[in-house]
Amino acid sequence: MFSLVIVWGLLKVVRAVAAPADPCTAATTTTWVPSKVAHACELNVPFNKARSETIMDSVLKSLQYYSLETWFLNSPNPLIPHNVNVRALLEGVQKQTSTVGFKTDWDFNMAVTDAYNREADGHTLFVADCTEAFSWNLPFSIATLAQSPFDAVAEPTFLVNYDFPNQGRTGLEAFYESLGVHVRPLDGSRILKINGVDAKTYLVDLATTSNIFNGLVGSFETVNPRFMRLMSRYSADTMAGLFTQEVGRFGQRAFYPGADEVTIQLQPPKGVPVTVTIPWAATFIGLGNSTASFIAETCLPPTDENARRRRLERRLELSSMNEKRKAVISPESQDKMRKQASTQRVLANPVQPTLKSFGHFVTLDIYQLAEHPKVGVVYFEQFEPSDGTGANDYFNGISDTLFTGLSALKAAGVKHILVDNSGNRGGFIFAGAIALWSLWPKDLFPGFPAVFRESDLIRRQSDVAAQTENLNSEYLFEFYRDLEYVLLQNNSQFMDPPVPQVVNGVRDAFSKQFLDDFGDNSSGVTNFTEPPFEGKDYVMVANSICASTCSVFSSYMFQKHGVRSAVFGGTPDSSLSQFDGGVKGSEVTDYDSILFELETLGLQDDPAAPQPLPIEVSFSMNFRNAIPFIDKQDGILEYVFEPDTKKFQFTFDQFNRPQKVWEFVAEQFWGQE
Ligand SMILES: *[C@@H]1O[C@H](CO)[C@@H](O)[C@H](O)[C@H]1NC(C)=O
Ligand SMILES: *[C@@H]1O[C@H](CO)[C@@H](O)[C@H](O)[C@H]1NC(C)=O
Ligand SMILES: *[C@@H]1O[C@H](CO)[C@@H](O)[C@H](O)[C@H]1NC(C)=O
Ligand SMILES: *[C@@H]1O[C@H](CO)[C@@H](O)[C@H](O)[C@H]1NC(C)=O
Repeated sequence: MFSLVIVWGLLKVVRAVAAPADPCTAATTTTWVPSKVAHACELNVPFNKARSETIMDSVLKSLQYYSLETWFLNSPNPLIPHNVNVRALLEGVQKQTSTVGFKTDWDFNMAVTDAYNREADGHTLFVADCTEAFSWNLPFSIATLAQSPFDAVAEPTFLVNYDFPNQGRTGLEAFYESLGVHVRPLDGSRILKINGVDAKTYLVDLATTSNIFNGLVGSFETVNPRFMRLMSRYSADTMAGLFTQEVGRFGQRAFYPGADEVTIQLQPPKGVPVTVTIPWAATFIGLGNSTASFIAETCLPPTDENARRRRLERRLELSSMNEKRKAVISPESQDKMRKQASTQRVLANPVQPTLKSFGHFVTLDIYQLAEHPKVGVVYFEQFEPSDGTGANDYFNGISDTLFTGLSALKAAGVKHILVDNSGNRGGFIFAGAIALWSLWPKDLFPGFPAVFRESDLIRRQSDVAAQTENLNSEYLFEFYRDLEYVLLQNNSQFMDPPVPQVVNGVRDAFSKQFLDDFGDNSSGVTNFTEPPFEGKDYVMVANSICASTCSVFSSYMFQKHGVRSAVFGGTPDSSLSQFDGGVKGSEVTDYDSILFELETLGLQDDPAAPQPLPIEVSFSMNFRNAIPFIDKQDGILEYVFEPDTKKFQFTFDQFNRPQKVWEFVAEQFWGQE
C-alpha cells in the first residue's frame, strides 16, 4: 500500500544547542530535554561496589517479610501466572555485585528493580530514587477503542494528549513544536504498527513482559490490568481526586523507556497510512543540577541528621499501626508530576460528570443518573486521600458521605447502585472496611482472614511485642481477632508457635489465621443498621485496575454478596476479565516500617535484621496473605480468578465520559425499569 513517511529533524535541533559538559547539568537546566540527554545523566552515576554490596545484604534479609515469596514460585492457577524465584534472582544480582560488578549505578539499581518487578504483585517493588528522577513523555496516548461496546475486538487509537484535563506537563507541546513534531492533525488515527510490529501484538507483548528496561512496571497480577495501565482511560487519580483522562504508561513512564524514539504507522480517519517517528521527551523531577549534586540530593540519603529524621517521620506517619494499615499500589506517575497536574485546573473537562451530586468527599463521589433515575452511582476513586486530609477525618468523611448520600438516593427513589472502582489503587484497609460495613452493617466483620509470614526473627518480634505490649508493633496479638471474631488473648493464638507449611515444595511458616479488629460491630463506623441495598442491586463498573484494598473490597462484594460486574477494556480481544486486578494480599509494608518495627522492639542489631539502606529508595512488599471464602483449594486469595459478569469494549463515544459508561451499564442490567 502507498505510504507516506514523515521524518522529523530531531538531531539537528539538539546539535544546534551547545551542551554543557556535565550530562546532569545538560539534563536538568531546561524543563524538557530529549530522552537521550536525560538518560546520559542517569548513566553518569558510577557503580559503587561497597555501597551496592551493603544494599544486597539487607535486601536479601528483608525477603523473610515477603509473604508471597514461596507461593509465587509456581502458580496453581494458569489464569494468574506466577513462576518466579525472586530469591534466586536477587542472589544473582548479589553475586554480580561482588564479582564483575555493574557498568553504572543505574544498571545495578535496575537489576534489583527488575528482579522484584517479575513478581508483578503490585505491593512488592524496589525503586531507587535515582532511577525515577525523570518523567518520560510522549505527545500522544493510546486507547483501545471499538465502534460498539459489544464488538469482539477493539483497535489501538492515537490520541494527542496535550489537552487531557488535569495532567500538567506545561511546555510539552511547545517542546515538540520546536522539534517540528506536529501531532495534532493525527488525533484519532488508528494505530497499525508500532516499531514495525502489528500494534495489538506489540502492546499485548509489552503488557505481558512488563519489562522494566522498556520503562514498564507490572504492578498487576494479570495481563488485562497491565494492558489497561498502558492505555489512556478515565479516572480521578490526581492529588485532589479530580476527574481526568490518564495519559497511560504508553504516553508517560517513570523509567527510561529503553529507546529514544518510537515509530508508528497510522491510518488517519481520511487518506493513506502515515509512518511517523516521535522522540521521547524527558523532564527532571529530582533534585540537583550537576552529577555530584544529583547524587548527593537525589540518590543518597540526607547526611544532615535532622533532615533524615524528618524524612523518616513523614514516611512513618502514613504507614502501619492498626487503623492505618494499608494495601495500595504506587500511583501511575511520580508525586511531582501528579502535584503539577492537580494545580493546573482546566475550564472544560469532558470527563467530569454533569449529574446531580449526592455527595463528594476527597475520593468518593455519589450521583443519581439522569437517564436512569432509579440508578445511583458510587465512585470510589481510591481508599486513601492524596491531598493531606488526616486519616481520622478521612474515615469519618467516607462514613458520613456514604450514609447521607445513599440515604438521600433512596429517598429520591433510587433502587440500584453502580459501584465504579475503575483505576482504584487501594489505600487504607480500614477505609475499605468502613465502605463494606456501610453497605452490609449486619456482617460480622468486613474483610478476609489473613496470615503473616514467619521467620525465627519475626516470631521473636511477636514475642517481644506481646511481653512489652508494644502498640507500635504490627505483630502484637491484641490488634487481631480469631475466626469467630473474638479478640485474641495471647500470642499462642497468633504467631508463637508458627504454623509450618510446605509451599511449592519449600518449607515455610505462617501465623494462625486472624481477622483485623474493626471494633465489636458496625455501629462504630456507620449509622446504617440495615443494608441500604441488597447484593443483587449493586453492579460494579471496572476496567480491571482495582488493586489492594480495592481488590479486597470488590472480592468481598463478589464472594460474600454475589455482586455482579461490568468490566470494560483489557487486551484488544480478551473475552474474559476479572473485575479487579490484584494484589489481594491484604497488606503492604514498606522497608522503613520493617526497620521501625525492629527498632521499637529492640531487635535492630539482630544478625538476621535488615539495616538502613545507604541510598534513597522506595521499597515495599506484600507482607500478609489473605484467605478466600471461595475456591479455598488454591490456598490464598491471590489465586482466585473472579470473572466479570458482562464484558464490554470502550468506544470512541464513551472512553473519556464515565457518565455515558454508567448510563450504558444501567441500561444493560436494569433497562428502563
Ligand atoms: C547549581 O545550583 C547551585 C545552588 O543552587 C548553584 O550555586 C550553581 O551555580 C548551579 N550550577 C549550575 C551548573 O547551574
Ligand atoms: C450518625 O449518628 C450520630 C448519632 O446519632 C450523629 O451525631 C451523626 O450526625 C450521624 N451521622 C450521619 C452521617 O447522619
Ligand atoms: C490463650 O488463650 C486461649 C483463649 O483464651 C486459651 O484457650 C489458651 O489456653 C491460652 N494459651 C495460653 C498459652 O495461655
Ligand atoms: C456494638 O458495639 C458497641 C461498642 O462499640 C456496643 O456499645 C453495642 O452494644 C454493640 N451493639 C450490638 C448490637 O452488639
